[in-house]
Amino acid sequence: MKMPMEQCLVDDFEVIENVDLGEGWFRLDVEAPSIASTARAGQFVQVRIGSTDDPLIRRPFSIFDVGPEPGPEATMLRLLVQRVGPGTRAMMQLSAGDRIHLMGPLGHPMPRPALGEDGVLLLIGGGIGVAPLYFYCRELAAEGSSLKHQVLLGARSSALLIGIDAFHKIGVETHAATDDGSCGFHGNVIELLEEKLESFSDPRQVAGIGCGPHGMNLALRDIAIERDLDFSISLENYMPCGFGACFGCVIEGPADQPLRYRRVCVEGPCFPVRELPEKF
Ligand SMILES: Cc1cc2nc3c(=O)[nH]c(=O)nc-3n(C[C@H](O)[C@H](O)[C@H](O)COP(=O)(O)OP(=O)(O)OC[C@H]3O[C@@H](n4cnc5c(N)ncnc54)[C@H](O)[C@@H]3O)c2cc1C
Ligand code: FES
Repeated sequence: MKMPMEQCLVDDFEVIENVDLGEGWFRLDVEAPSIASTARAGQFVQVRIGSTDDPLIRRPFSIFDVGPEPGPEATMLRLLVQRVGPGTRAMMQLSAGDRIHLMGPLGHPMPRPALGEDGVLLLIGGGIGVAPLYFYCRELAAEGSSLKHQVLLGARSSALLIGIDAFHKIGVETHAATDDGSCGFHGNVIELLEEKLESFSDPRQVAGIGCGPHGMNLALRDIAIERDLDFSISLENYMPCGFGACFGCVIEGPADQPLRYRRVCVEGPCFPVRELPEKF
């Protein structure tokens, strides 16, 4: 499947608001109608900050939300960002009226699994993985979709369950797992998922989309393969260009197919678990 590059815009946009969410996280709202109006959940933007070459390489960020509602009328683009290094530190300094250089939307939207009436889609997130999952829920709501879905979010402790309030506000059934037991299930999100899966007698009743830290993604893939579940995982590989030119983001193709490298930025970032190699 080819990426619709003709819909990809590169421009400077105005920052509307930068909201400090604590614990090194912040939400950046940008007036970017040309990107927001075509963006779909699971896609991302590449960010370059200021006019200098430091940092030289653009930084990829999932689209967290668009406003006022997902669809062609959307004008505002929201990013949920965790400060980790020079790029995200510079983004944290941005304030209303500043300009930010964006390229996007990039990558493919997350899939819509075909489930029967009794089926449930589980959206499993950890860390910054909550960002595309929230946009996915917003999109389902805006479309009036009948796809039943629940969110499972994991973090070390309750203070790090960033974004969970946003899911509650839009009325999505959301379950938390914390390593220290300070909120919800005491354990990691994969253990919570295993408990949830017990309630489904038929694996065809459940589908899943996961996005989280590498360890979570690996465990998710193993469970889904073992139980023959229709799960997909959105990867957050290192992405120097984001549009297929550099091969800096490749993973191997599935083990049962002739070796072929796949570019996560243009063929993903979300892949069905069966298409993922043992190591990714
Ligand atoms: C598809 C995708 C979606 C993402 N969505 C979000 C999101 O919604 N919110 C969020 O906070 N973060 C997201 N990230 C991660 C984010 O891109 C990195 O945290 C950011 O690039 C770090 O830049 P830095 O300069 O602050 O840190 P650095 O010190 O440069 O790096 C810190 C960490 O980020 C990784 N990183 C650096 N540059 C890149 C790059 N070009 N591509 C991927 N990883 C990189 C490094 O390998 C390192 O592990 C996403 C990554 C990908 C690939
Ligand atoms: S990031 Fe350059 S090809 Fe994927």
